[in-house]
Amino acid sequence: MKTLVIGSGGREHALAWRLARSPRVTEVVLCPGNGGTHGIGPRWLIDPLADIDLFCDRVLAEGIGRVVIGPEAPLVAGLADRLRERGVPTFGVGASAARLEGSKAFTKEFLARHRIPTAEFRVVSDAAELSSALETFSGGVVVKADGLAAGKGVIVCEDLGEAEAAAQAMLDGTSFGEAGRVVVLEERLRGIEVSMLAFVSGTQFRWLEPAQDYKPLEEGNRGPNTGGMGAFSPAGTVAALRSTIDEQIMRPTLEGLAAEEIPFQGLLYVGLMLTEKGPQVLEFNCRFGDPETQPLMLRLQTDLMDVFDAIDAGRLDQIDLTWDPRTALCLVVASGGYPSSYPTGLPIRGPVTSALEDDVQVFHAGTRIEESASGAETLVTAGGRVFGVTALGSDLADARRRAYARAKEIQFEGGFFRPDIGRSHETETTA
Ligand code: AMP
Ligand code: GLY
Repeated sequence: MKTLVIGSGGREHALAWRLARSPRVTEVVLCPGNGGTHGIGPRWLIDPLADIDLFCDRVLAEGIGRVVIGPEAPLVAGLADRLRERGVPTFGVGASAARLEGSKAFTKEFLARHRIPTAEFRVVSDAAELSSALETFSGGVVVKADGLAAGKGVIVCEDLGEAEAAAQAMLDGTSFGEAGRVVVLEERLRGIEVSMLAFVSGTQFRWLEPAQDYKPLEEGNRGPNTGGMGAFSPAGTVAALRSTIDEQIMRPTLEGLAAEEIPFQGLLYVGLMLTEKGPQVLEFNCRFGDPETQPLMLRLQTDLMDVFDAIDAGRLDQIDLTWDPRTALCLVVASGGYPSSYPTGLPIRGPVTSALEDDVQVFHAGTRIEESASGAETLVTAGGRVFGVTALGSDLADARRRAYARAKEIQFEGGFFRPDIGRSHETETTA
């Protein structure tokens, strides 16, 4: 079967790499893919959202049997709904469920309605209400832009003054444009942060193995939040809490969605803080996490195509996910300046072929191939997160050693990575 993966990041490279290993897949097409995905299959260099009907026409004309949508923006825009209406089996939730990611205010209100543990919050859309809303918080405050902001619209504030300034800049449109016109103010939680990903079909779910993400830019979890600077799996901290998370968070969430007639067939990413009061929901995403998907795809052994079919058919409960027992660790190599502005078009040197060698797989993210007038091809940077160097190891230290050894050989001007991915993962993430 021909399969089309939508997106251009490390997550999509990892999904395409895994799908290419399925005996059921004859060809993986990427739209648009990146500088490392050409070894997997052809690329469509078009924007599916520019004209969704035209895009669906092409999917049908080219005999694509399964579409897999990586990023959130096409889900929020309803691409999965439109593909399904045209009869194309699609992995990815519809627009109504994607609100769980597309609007933080919607999600907080949903959590409150269904009594699912989460931080205390206030939703503010008028600057005149800001000071009185902030006064209701006694401890630290987290300020969040309501809409999509590429994982960067959250500011964990040290004091009320900083929170007021951050919220004001969101409300007047200076920091996140339209995404910040509504702001969620939240009590700051403390504890260990974990991401849990589950395949979901209505009220049925199957957890993927736990993965730990590192969102802050700098060593020791300091600095601004990014999309994620590294991840590893399995992450041990949640095993003992699994049944609490099922009962207090997952079941009420899926039952709440069903009661509100919001169909959910796809992936639910639950961002949790393990606090003294138990696990609390930080956020939901409606798609695979990036970089978490990179180590997860190195370890997943079940055929993804079987999982996708089971989700569509409502028989996810008949699927058992099997995993390579080894540990996988992904180290993100980023452009100097990320997550703010950074240059692109910088030549890259080093071992970046996307073949699994020595249990190391270099997933590409922000790369592209530049062709000179003479036809010579050069791999250059094209984004903030450039590679996810992902390694399998007998344990965390082994996976870490392999990933760092390879990342050090990859060079481009200004390129950097966090030195502590997989090192001190049990420390408080919001210290
Ligand atoms: P979100 O996109 O909502 O998950 O927020 C991004 C990051 O901000 C999270 O991964 C946490 O590290 C941090 N964060 C979000 N909400 C809170 C909170 N209520 N308390 C402490 N940290 C938070
Ligand atoms: N790594 C965080 C995310 O995918 O949202």
